[in-house]
Amino acid sequence: MATKDATTEETGRNSFVYVVAALAALNGLLFGFDTGVIAGAMLYIQNSFDLTALFGYPMSASFVEGLIVSGAMGGAIVGAAFGGRLADRLGRRRLILVGAVIFFVGSLVMAIAPNVEVLIFGRLINGVGIGFASVVGPLYISELAPPKIRGSLVSLNQLTITSGILIAYLVNYAFSGGGDWRWMLGLGMIPAVVLFVGMLFMPESPRWLYEQGRVDDARDVLSRTRTESRVAAELREIKETVKTESGTVGDLFKPWVRPMLVVGIGLAAFQQVTGINVVMYYAPVILESTGFQDTASILATVGIGVVNVVMTVVAVLLIDRTGRRPLLLTGLVGMTVMLGLLGLAFFLPGLSGIVGWLATIGLMLYVAFFAIGLGPVFWLLISEIYPTQIRGTAMGAATVVNWAANLLVSLTFLGLVDAVGQASTFWLFGACSLAALIFCYKLVPETKGRSLEEIEADLRENTLVGPDDHPDAVGSDD
Ligand code: BGC
Repeated sequence: MATKDATTEETGRNSFVYVVAALAALNGLLFGFDTGVIAGAMLYIQNSFDLTALFGYPMSASFVEGLIVSGAMGGAIVGAAFGGRLADRLGRRRLILVGAVIFFVGSLVMAIAPNVEVLIFGRLINGVGIGFASVVGPLYISELAPPKIRGSLVSLNQLTITSGILIAYLVNYAFSGGGDWRWMLGLGMIPAVVLFVGMLFMPESPRWLYEQGRVDDARDVLSRTRTESRVAAELREIKETVKTESGTVGDLFKPWVRPMLVVGIGLAAFQQVTGINVVMYYAPVILESTGFQDTASILATVGIGVVNVVMTVVAVLLIDRTGRRPLLLTGLVGMTVMLGLLGLAFFLPGLSGIVGWLATIGLMLYVAFFAIGLGPVFWLLISEIYPTQIRGTAMGAATVVNWAANLLVSLTFLGLVDAVGQASTFWLFGACSLAALIFCYKLVPETKGRSLEEIEADLRENTLVGPDDHPDAVGSDD
């Protein structure tokens, strides 16, 4: 159970754990950068290659463009599907190393691609690296972090996602005078190298080591990341859960795990069908429709990227104090209201002047509410709510759904706007956001301050689900 104070001794942390978490959080930078850079790079790729044919067969340019943009998401679905299981088999650290190499190779292939086919191949490879990184980054940090600061440390991963997006927006802006897309895409090699070299010196997750029977190694890692007094206690807790588990894929569907499978998959889908990546990918297009000029809309997009980073910092600072649920629920209320207002702004005739500005502010506030809630809390919760032996596999399942929903929304957005208009599209996202609010209110547990083993024990006793089931739930303060 959570204790009442937060001195270093009670928290049981050791400063080395910050270094490990910050480095592992670079996994987020890989996929944030990729998310933000492709739209900008696409403008110039069009000038370099003939997009009306693939392998000599005539194709529509918009189809080939779609393949280039969404190729990474397709790869990420594959990467996430295998990444979870591989993280359980190979270990968390080793998979991070593999992911960094794959991402590096993908970025290199894209940077030197002689034709569009090789470029698409590079996007797919990059995507597989992203898929691995998106599962194993939060997983690794969560297993290494002391319970009291686990929320902040895991959310560093979301902070690097948003920083990656912002860096990419700035790169797009810097290159907007007529840039070289090869440099834009190739820049991804830098964080991949830093991540790879840094991880060579980092330890494996103590929980994974323990499961492999490497008890002494697990104890060593805990001693490097905990105060002495916490090591024995935490080792005992890990031992208890390992003893009682079997750890097969079938466990995902066991009645006692199922409620959290629903929570993880539900959160994964809601994180995307509430529209965040429509803003991340299409912000300049949306802003132009409010009457902004080209450069102004690119600058306003940078503004949205800044809001995203700043509010994620707020979430990192708050998440272990307020808990996960208050941030998640507040964020969803705000997103729902903002999506309703955005729909209204686009519904009103003659979007110009004041209404255009209102829409811009609405977009920024919408992103702000995502950044303090659904953004970080989804990745954090899926790293906390599953039993250790299937944590990787279960997180992989949730992450596949997240990438698949991302792909679906990104591919259908423009068509949806054509079919029903911008106002109704935002209202549709708003309705999904309201549904997400109800889902989270009813089903998402509070995990603040408890060790992964305590969370697992509640899961086994079926007391983890819902708003009021645990003394540490909403509103309680340490
Ligand atoms: C989501 C991404 C999104 C990003 C925006 C992440 O939590 O998973 O799809 O692009 O937040 O900040």
